[in-house]
Amino acid sequence: DFTVAVVLPAGGSGERTGLSTPKQFCTFLNRPLISYTIQAFERVGWIEHIVVVVAKDNLDLMVTIVQQFGHNKVKVVLGGSTRHRSIFNGLKAFEATGEECAPTKPKVVIIHDAVRPFVEEDFLVKIAVAAKEQGAAGAVRPLVSTVIATTSEGYLDHSLERSKYRASEMPQGFLYDIIYQAYLQCSEADFEFGTECLHLALQYCGTNARLIEGPPTLWKVTYKRDLFAAESIIKESGT
Ligand code: C5P
Repeated sequence: DFTVAVVLPAGGSGERTGLSTPKQFCTFLNRPLISYTIQAFERVGWIEHIVVVVAKDNLDLMVTIVQQFGHNKVKVVLGGSTRHRSIFNGLKAFEATGEECAPTKPKVVIIHDAVRPFVEEDFLVKIAVAAKEQGAAGAVRPLVSTVIATTSEGYLDHSLERSKYRASEMPQGFLYDIIYQAYLQCSEADFEFGTECLHLALQYCGTNARLIEGPPTLWKVTYKRDLFAAESIIKESGT
């Protein structure tokens, strides 16, 4: 029994698909990918607000999508040059108290990627409850490939023991005050090169995240082949 809101970073350029449209705006069955992701959260009754963070070039497109598909829990804000900057901008929307249409500050904030449309309510419950109890929680998956470190000349430096490591996926959940404080304190280097919100919570607030194994459908639509996979799942599920 606590308030939960969502920040959905969608400010990336989607270079890896090799398409001109960022992948979150690619359309399947007349609906852009990001709209499926938003829908997955809007269907969850206990989620109050969804802050969608987009790049300046996609602002008008995003506002049109929100109107066209009637996404009435959504507030759209501008992103930054890196993922962490975009997420921090998203969190700041909850700080704009008193402003017209400002979303109310939640107890727990869930951060998810716009390009992971198949997140389900039962998993969101697990993340939100663990975040409330522990301060931070994140989805993980077993590694598919072994991770190796390379030398600058392109030779093998060392390899990691695969069973000891996990891929960090999304969603992640945080007590709002913890992740906001972490972003207030983190360094320029974190903003520029960091990719892990759970790490910021640990480094700046001493909050150790609880890790929960998620289903394979949490995967991030990254490459062109993923667009085909996403399309066939959408067609099959008839969402
Ligand atoms: O680049 P990557 O695949 O890690 O991006 C994950 C998510 O972060 C995507 O939803 C992307 O749109 C978002 N992102 C962002 N602002 C950036 C870069 C990425 O919101 N500057």
